[in-house]
Parts: sequence; structure tokens; C-alpha cells
Amino acid sequence: MNRLECLRERVDALLLPITDPEERRCAYVHLYGVSQLCVLLAAKRGLATDPAAAAGMLHDLAAYTDADPREHAGRSAAMAAPLLEGLYSPEETEQIVTAIARHSDKQSRHEPPDELLKDADALQHWLYNPSAQLSPHAAARCRATLRELGLPTDEAE
Ligand SMILES: [Fe+2]
Repeated sequence: MNRLECLRERVDALLLPITDPEERRCAYVHLYGVSQLCVLLAAKRGLATDPAAAAGMLHDLAAYTDADPREHAGRSAAMAAPLLEGLYSPEETEQIVTAIARHSDKQSRHEPPDELLKDADALQHWLYNPSAQLSPHAAARCRATLRELGLPTDEAE
């Protein structure tokens, strides 16, 4: 089992006990979806794919395990460090935890691994339901990412 599979086992162990099946489904769809989009965007941008996938898996964890989305970025970052222990280097862990802590700040520009997680997060929401209303910042990120991938942007208005 490689380290990403190990990490996903640790995350699954926290998601499986979520009692509300709808909440549990949303957690799986969103965290695995963002993780996969992180790999896609990391490959496109020449960034490390595996730590990007890890950041996606962990970025909203506290929002689901606590059933409370308020200020979840900091709480998810705090949960991430021990889950990464023994799998990711201190440098990788620092990068992943920082990206998670910053991911709700979609209006600001941070480092490339941070921006990657924000873009993957916004894009997963749009892919899940293209008809749903995104925040203006999330919609702008989606359009920019679709352009970057060579796709038309009219749908993500
Ligand atoms: Fe998210």
C-alpha cells in the first residue's frame, strides 16, 4: 500500500462513522473529487501530484467530522498534521497544512500549492452541480481553470 492509500485509509476511518448518510456521501464525493482534481491541476502546473492529492483529501475534514463548516480551514489544518505523520516529510506536511489553512481565502493569492487546492475545491463544486450558484470568487476561479485546461467557460458563468 503506498502512502496516499495509507492516508486515504486514515481519512476513511474518520468519515465512515459519520451517522448522517447524506453528509457521509457528500464528504466522500467532495474530498475524493477535490483530491483527484488536485492531481490533474498539479500535473498541468508541474507541481508534485501526491502531496496535492493529500491536501485535497484533508482540506475539509473538520467540516464533515464536526458537522460544522464554520472556520473549518484552520480546524482541518490542525487535524491534517497527525494524519500525515510517518507518510509525508516535514516539508511536504508543512506545505499541505498551509494549503489547507489558506483554502477558504478564495479572494487572496498565495503560493502555487495553495492556489491549486483553492482552484480544485472551486472546480469540484462546479463539476458536482454545474447549475448551482457559486460564489463570485469561486466562479471566477472555475472560469480561469477551465481556460487553463483549454475548455470553454460559458457554462461556468
Ligand atoms: Fe472543499
